Amino acid sequence: MASTSASSSSAIAPAATTHSFARYKANNIVEDGDLVVLYLSKENVILIRVDVNETFNCKFGSYRHADMIGLEYGTKLGSNTGRGFLYLLFPTPELWTLILPHRTQILYVADISFIMNFLNLKPGMSMIESGTGSGSFSHSIARTLAPTGHLYSFEYHQERVNAATKEFEDHGLSDMITLRRRDVCKDGFDLVDRVDAVFLDLPAPWEAVASAKRAFKKNKIGKICTFSPCIEQISKTVTALSEHKFVDIQMYECLIRFQEVRILPILTIEEAMEKERIHESKRQRALPRVLRDSYLKATAKANEDEELPPAKHMKIEKGQEEENSNKDNDDTNKKDQSLSGTPAEFEASGKTVTITKLPVEQRGHTSYLLFATLPPSVDSLPVVTLE
Ligand SMILES: C[S@@+](CC[C@H](N)C(=O)[O-])C[C@H]1O[C@@H](n2cnc3c(N)ncnc32)[C@H](O)[C@@H]1O
Repeated sequence: MASTSASSSSAIAPAATTHSFARYKANNIVEDGDLVVLYLSKENVILIRVDVNETFNCKFGSYRHADMIGLEYGTKLGSNTGRGFLYLLFPTPELWTLILPHRTQILYVADISFIMNFLNLKPGMSMIESGTGSGSFSHSIARTLAPTGHLYSFEYHQERVNAATKEFEDHGLSDMITLRRRDVCKDGFDLVDRVDAVFLDLPAPWEAVASAKRAFKKNKIGKICTFSPCIEQISKTVTALSEHKFVDIQMYECLIRFQEVRILPILTIEEAMEKERIHESKRQRALPRVLRDSYLKATAKANEDEELPPAKHMKIEKGQEEENSNKDNDDTNKKDQSLSGTPAEFEASGKTVTITKLPVEQRGHTSYLLFATLPPSVDSLPVVTLE
């Protein structure tokens, strides 16, 4: 029997599909040939195409695709060994942004949602984006413009064009996205009187402003947004926009700070000490043998001296630190063995405290967002003669 492993999220065989990243399924049921996001933990999220003959293998055990068929998206599925579980999620642009193969810097959800709101994007609209990059923004735009709108995406790097073309096909988006290889700063967009909005994520967006202006529908209000990390780029783009008679030019810096909400049990002193003992032994087991002896010596000495906490005495090489923190995260997929109850049982007992916590990695601000509006051309407006 064929099998897929937990390590890859990019190689998906294309299939005729009834749904896509831009179209939800009415019945919400996983069927043979569907795309499904397998969510094992925050660090372990994988896109698969369900194939009745395949099996998905990971450290928790095996999951036959056949067992996924007929289940609702959102189902929590246990492995054959009973050692772990995963969730079957519907493929959304937000999940794709989390797991896509990075070929370039990408846009994240904070900027994506802000841009789409300020460009006033709606189903049925036509839009230009350049460059396509890793296709993170493209997936979200496609869903917003669906089912009748269209995205014209331009990218001058051949390999990125090839990779994005394949992804758009695999994800059921190719009827909504026209992707062209083109240097838009040198050769323009080659579209006239066609789109409602333009988004430029380019090193020199000001060089594409004149051509973007020609692409806007003449009888409608057009909206443009550019995304630039440096204020000097913004300054040049503002000059170009105002020379080309764009109005309402505004700049925003977008920040996001996600706070995880956790409900924790209130522990007795004995339970807290037991939990700490278990964590400490996990920490020691996670250390490479060569560091473990010096760690134990340092711990013993620190306990004697009651001085600095043991971790300050030891040096952990880069990479090992990461490996250990991944291990801790993976443990969240299991029930905490140190507690005599599940979080839900503790919650029901009322002996809980709710905390918020910043995740280790924050993805939010990357650049400045510049917006401007192009009024309809006076010649294109209908003339009304009053009697
Ligand atoms: C930062 S990436 C875009 C990322 C994309 N917004 C995403 O969310 O995945 C910028 C892309 O613009 C492309 N690019 C740069 N200058 C270009 C030009 N003059 N014409 C077309 N593409 C260009 C680069 O090759 C790169 O792939």
